[in-house]
Amino acid sequence: MPIRVVRTVSALRRAVMRWRAAGERIALVPTMGALHAGHLALVRAARRRARRVVVSVFVNPAQFAPHEDFASYPRSWDTDLAALSAMGVDLVWAPAVAAMYPPGFATRIVPQGPATAGLEDKFRPQFFSGVATVVGKLLIQCAPDLAMFGDKDYQQLLVVTRLAEDLDLPVKIVAVATVREPDGLALSSRNSYLSASERAAAPTLYRVLEDCAGKIARGALPARALDEAAAAIERAGFVLDYLEARHADTLAPLSSRADGPIRLLVAARIGKTRLIDNIAV
Ligand code: PAF
Repeated sequence: MPIRVVRTVSALRRAVMRWRAAGERIALVPTMGALHAGHLALVRAARRRARRVVVSVFVNPAQFAPHEDFASYPRSWDTDLAALSAMGVDLVWAPAVAAMYPPGFATRIVPQGPATAGLEDKFRPQFFSGVATVVGKLLIQCAPDLAMFGDKDYQQLLVVTRLAEDLDLPVKIVAVATVREPDGLALSSRNSYLSASERAAAPTLYRVLEDCAGKIARGALPARALDEAAAAIERAGFVLDYLEARHADTLAPLSSRADGPIRLLVAARIGKTRLIDNIAV
């Protein structure tokens, strides 16, 4: 049987209500399509925890600035659908932009806290309000018991976790480990933008993060280890947006391991591609 695709909120609600009435647990995997093994790991994690799995596929214009890659963001509907079908996903929620943001739409969620930590938000000022608005809508539309988000977008994960708590949404946000290429590069739909030489340099980002985390874990001062790491990233041909050690739960800046659990977060550009990654110390 072909996988079920729904395009209206009312059809989505009818399906979800039927499952709920049968006492079935529902997990949502929000995506923007262009699915790779990282997304499929989210689906697998959802499968393990819930009887029903909904995957949303929606390239959300609200989280792109006018100069960003909304128009050219990779779209691969047929292969996405085949992959989701092969994984036994119960339903694909694929609204048109006009169904998600109908004429007259005038409400935006503007998150604070981790969304204003001075990391992604500093370089993409409207990103988290776009993400929070669409994720808030997806969670209300699907009313899932669980929603799966990748560790790779670590600041986004904290923003969404805070959002669900602050708005009393009865959903558990589940973090799923980053999936990497054998050479360490974190999977991302935007990796398809990399030229061959950029792709060859790209794994440096994670190699340097690992090295830096190891030094800090062995007692090096974060500031010093980060300086060395920044230089290594730039030597590999990247332009650094940020490389920071932050409190893993709050993203507050910290200067030593005694200040709390550390997460290193990086964003850097190589050619036209912007890559982000992070690691626990
Ligand atoms: O991480 C993503 O793919 C997107 O930001 C999300 C969570 C699907 C919201 O559009």
